[in-house]
Amino acid sequence: MQAETYNYKVVRQFSVMTIVWGVVGILVGVIIAAQLVWPALNFDLPWLHFGRLRPLHTNAVIFAFGGSALFATSYYIVQRTCQVRLFASGLASFTFWGWNLVIVLAAVTLPLGLTSGKEYAELEWPIDILIAVVWVSYAIVFFGTIVKRRVKHIYVANWFFGAFILTVAVLHIVNSAALPVSLTKSYSAYAGTTDAMVQWWYGHNAVGFFLTAGFLGMMYYFIPKQANRPVYSYRLSVVHFWTLISLYMWAGPHHLHYTALPDWAQSLGMVFSLMLLAPSWGGMINGIMTLSGAWHKLRTDPILKFMVVSLSFYGMSTFEGPMMSIKTVNALSHYTDWTIGHVHSGALGWVGFITMGSMYFLIPKLFGKKEMYSLKLIDLHLWVATIGIVLYIVSMWIAGVMQGLMWQELEADGTLANSFVQSLERMYPYYTVRLLGGVLYLVGMLIMVYNVWKTIAGPSTEPVEQQVQPA
Ligand code: HEM
Ligand code: HEM
Repeated sequence: MQAETYNYKVVRQFSVMTIVWGVVGILVGVIIAAQLVWPALNFDLPWLHFGRLRPLHTNAVIFAFGGSALFATSYYIVQRTCQVRLFASGLASFTFWGWNLVIVLAAVTLPLGLTSGKEYAELEWPIDILIAVVWVSYAIVFFGTIVKRRVKHIYVANWFFGAFILTVAVLHIVNSAALPVSLTKSYSAYAGTTDAMVQWWYGHNAVGFFLTAGFLGMMYYFIPKQANRPVYSYRLSVVHFWTLISLYMWAGPHHLHYTALPDWAQSLGMVFSLMLLAPSWGGMINGIMTLSGAWHKLRTDPILKFMVVSLSFYGMSTFEGPMMSIKTVNALSHYTDWTIGHVHSGALGWVGFITMGSMYFLIPKLFGKKEMYSLKLIDLHLWVATIGIVLYIVSMWIAGVMQGLMWQELEADGTLANSFVQSLERMYPYYTVRLLGGVLYLVGMLIMVYNVWKTIAGPSTEPVEQQVQPA
């Protein structure tokens, strides 16, 4: 009888594409950051305009880079922790090709200006339908594997991945409901304030479930593995799970402070955002404390360093978020670069670093190598990228607060003291520093590409641990 093996093919495919799309998405980020310093960089070509490249950047980093990382790690973790081969290998393969087709279609349609105009949900209806089909297939593969598991217990990482998969399906399908008028144009099924509320219910939960819950699944598997320690408190991880998923759903209105949304809904969003601090920090502490007794490893293990630094940024952005949701603080921060700084401390620090740490853990195992080609290069990547993030977020904080204050300043007769253009002029030094930070982060990513390439191309010294272990 032939022994059952794990399906690593699809994990390898998604892992490699994580790195490829990471470089592409971050490069587009660097290009738009450069355009904000030198506007002429759009060469007067419509498809290179900031307004078209910006959604290309957000879609590429969130859905192509982040999405591929989530597929790769969830497929790996669900097999290892359930001790069975992935359910429906053909369907899993379809999710890989389908998801990449979505990405290619996005890369073509967004620069052409074909968009529904909803942030993080810009793609037009035919692509939306393809996304829904791929996502439902993903759910079948993931939950099918859980159903046929050989271990009774469902490990906590799978709870986070499961919640992420289910919620994103609901968010995507509800928010994308639209009336098509042609193959490339549709109108939202909702109108006015309702449309805005549905959009930000989607938008905030995209942060909560796409950019947070799934990556917490990575944290709960790879940090204990890399530190070789059990999760600090399993009980805390379960409390973390239920509080996080029940609170996130209600926080969306903090994106619509001081708008036509009823005041009570804005206050509700604010209160739930403040409460979110507790599970977020509970989870961060659980991750960091998992290193109890293994702190010394931080001196020598750059992969663990990536993971721990990512948790620090998670803690930082989930402290900053609730503060920004307070209406009086939001009166200063909203529409300013402070928001952009907040986004990127979460995105570059938390999402980016936990992904890179997880990929450095996975790549050697998937390709039959003892370890990565060079640990020194991982360390170099960590430092270059961390300096990049610090430059990015500090410059955006200063820029944001300065904008907020300039826009609020009044003359004695009550007229505005500064025009928008005057505030924009003051941004140049900060936009230049942000660009420099972005270039450093990109350089870090290219160091990773070289290291991964050398690892994969090098001689295979270890057997790939692909045989399913009996429970
Ligand atoms: C407890 C957790 C968090 C809370 C309560 C929170 C709260 C907020 C608030 C109040 C805003 C500003 C809304 C505005 O003025 O327009 C915001 C924006 C944003 N946050 Fe967070 N945040 C949290 C964590 C995170 C994390 C971890 C990430 C990324 C991984 C993130 C990504 C974003 C994004 C992408 C936006 C910009 C949305 C847009 O306007 O396009 N947030 N968040
Ligand atoms: C280091 C490379 C990066 C650079 C230079 C960069 C640059 C930028 C720029 C210039 C913007 C537009 C800001 C504006 O409209 O004023 C932006 C928006 C955004 N970026 Fe990045 N980015 C980078 C990496 C990333 C990564 C890795 C992620 C996610 C994982 C990300 C997520 C976002 C999001 C969600 C927005 C929209 C924010 C909002 O609407 O509030 N970026 N980025």
